[in-house]
Amino acid sequence: MNPNDYPQGILFSPELQQQVRDHFCNVDADSYGPRAFFENSGGALRLKACAETAMKVDAHPDCPNRHQKQADIQNSYVEQGYRDIHTIFGTEKGSIITYLSASQVMFNIIGAIAAAIPGKNMVVSVLEHPSGFDSVEYYAERYGLELRVLQSNPATGGIDVSEVERLVDKDTVLLSCMYSCNITGAVNDIPAFVKAARRIKPDIYIVVDAVQHMPHSVVDLENLDIDAMDFAPYKFFGLRGSGIGWVSERCAVLPHNRILCYSKDTWELGSTAPHLFANYTAIVDYVAWLGSQFIQSDNRRELFVEGMHRISLHERALLHRALEGTDELPGLRKIEGVHVQCDNPDLTQRDFILPITFDNMDVTSAVEEYVKRGVYVFERKAPNHYSKRIVESFGLDGVIRVSPIHCNSTEEIDQFLRASAEIAKL
Ligand SMILES: Cc1ncc(COP(=O)(O)O)c(C=O)c1O
Repeated sequence: MNPNDYPQGILFSPELQQQVRDHFCNVDADSYGPRAFFENSGGALRLKACAETAMKVDAHPDCPNRHQKQADIQNSYVEQGYRDIHTIFGTEKGSIITYLSASQVMFNIIGAIAAAIPGKNMVVSVLEHPSGFDSVEYYAERYGLELRVLQSNPATGGIDVSEVERLVDKDTVLLSCMYSCNITGAVNDIPAFVKAARRIKPDIYIVVDAVQHMPHSVVDLENLDIDAMDFAPYKFFGLRGSGIGWVSERCAVLPHNRILCYSKDTWELGSTAPHLFANYTAIVDYVAWLGSQFIQSDNRRELFVEGMHRISLHERALLHRALEGTDELPGLRKIEGVHVQCDNPDLTQRDFILPITFDNMDVTSAVEEYVKRGVYVFERKAPNHYSKRIVESFGLDGVIRVSPIHCNSTEEIDQFLRASAEIAKL
């Protein structure tokens, strides 16, 4: 199935929606009370299975590679966790990197490429999270390279391929661009970027931040000719405390910090945390379970892909409802005084991360009004370092970011629409 064939998405059945919600902690309410959690871009609602593995696995002190059977069990969590990370990336090739955060992963990858590859400039998108932008800026300065910045398109909230064609040349060391933007939800056409960049410089290094895209859609590294990608399990229904990277075979052997007894393509440093690896497996178990509600297969990647497609479709249907409303409730596009920024009409090019503004109040006041009404959203605004460059690239000084995920329901979208209409009238 191709999710792009369904421009308005497909909702889960009510029964499946309930089963999905039952897999997550604190969906309707947390210990402080009921609320609709639309702040998943900051850190996603968490699978019960992930919370449980933290306790179950980490309660054991046993190191992997000891003589007691508990050690073998800890080891098997780690081994299965690595297999499942490959399942998520959709390739058996390359090396996996796990650090404490996605930012650490990104800085290390950019640093290794910048140190080893000759050239005169590095290209990065203006929309990057500081992990992607500051790493390129820092190493460009350190190695005397020109920093070139892909500009955004305010109509879509993303980067056009023509920007890649404008800035990449034969002297470009690397191109770094995020898959989807953590403030606008725009999905960049990374396959087209790769084609365009490699037409100009066939051996260019290409790095993709998939932190925000990964929880909403499939990535397929077997069919995407890039050198590095990262994501964050805590934005993908899992535990905080790790960031995950993938590097291509040629990138893996660039000089990098490593323990010398391991192979040259090993990036892992120090002890592994088996409970974190068990949590990667719990994420894949869950998405594969969701896929198995739609197709039959013994292949874990196939089930995972189907599950991610269904997640994309449900979220797209929720996004469509938020924008267009229902017979009873006006959607955001129709509420006077509300503006959907970067409102690309093609929903297949968007993850459900929605930037909005109000005519009658600043974004922080609007977020406070949403919270009073039991809807948790967040403002992204200048001068905050994590937002300024991005919102200003659209000529804005801030937006309210609305970021549900697939376990959110149509009822919660309606609650959000009612709150939006009320706030617009204050
Ligand atoms: C697009 C994007 N990239 C990278 C990161 C950094 O992730 P971490 O906090 O794990 O370093 C974030 C975090 O919000 C993000 O949204």
